Amino acid sequence: MQIYIVDDALGAAELSAQLIMEAVVDEGARNLGFATGQTMVPVYEKLIKLVARGNVDMSRAAWRTFNLDEYVGLSGQHPGSFRYFMEHHLFQPLNLEPGQTHFLNGLAQDLEAECLRYENVLHAHPLDLQVLGLGINGHIGFNEPGTPWDSRTHRVRLSAATKSQNRDSFPGAMPQEALTMGIRSIADATRILLVAIGGHKAEAVYRAAGGAKTVDCPASALQDHPHVRLVVDRAAAQLLLSDGQSGAHAEVIHVRPAMGGG
Ligand code: GLP
Repeated sequence: MQIYIVDDALGAAELSAQLIMEAVVDEGARNLGFATGQTMVPVYEKLIKLVARGNVDMSRAAWRTFNLDEYVGLSGQHPGSFRYFMEHHLFQPLNLEPGQTHFLNGLAQDLEAECLRYENVLHAHPLDLQVLGLGINGHIGFNEPGTPWDSRTHRVRLSAATKSQNRDSFPGAMPQEALTMGIRSIADATRILLVAIGGHKAEAVYRAAGGAKTVDCPASALQDHPHVRLVVDRAAAQLLLSDGQSGAHAEVIHVRPAMGGG
């Protein structure tokens, strides 16, 4: 695992976007797994700017996107759905065609069959890059603590911690369930980019990268992955830094602030 520690949140977002661009432009990544959440908002803002600046036309069919998870019972038009989030924050600004983007359908009649369908889609289009945020309880996607590491796409009941973390997107009733790629489906990606910003993520970051590998912290499964980059700001890295523990095989890179970025 390579851990990039950046001074502030904006710098971490900028670096994350640069690493996505590097994978897309320099390393030929075509099948891209994307995540939702507040962490991703500035990352996608920066990515849209970099794509424009680099004159990359991602609306060509060569690129395909695959989203990590979706709430059960919401249509893609619901403002709380992850499909809506992605369309608004990334896919419309990049002019992606509907055929390029892939989502779990939280309205499917048979949710188990929907999980299998998605897993088959992933099998046919192995992910070159999976972008991930981090839950305060260490979840990735909606893989809650206790999820087996060999899990594939499945249906989950959301934990109280996750519901309270995500409640702001729901002025009304909040979904109780979701569909999510499993830990194995995520770890099958060739490259992983995990991003965590803010002091409220410090414990989850510590447990993901510096603590023991345990199903109690789903993100700690990534310690076994051969190509993981973790981007954090100093606030999210504070427990790693104070303990001097960054995981047995981790390489820590302190990133200097970029001048004149934007
Ligand atoms: C949700 C998503 C996760 C995301 C997490 C972090 O639970 N299912 O994929 O990583 O939120 O969200 P935030 O970035 O808002 O802290």
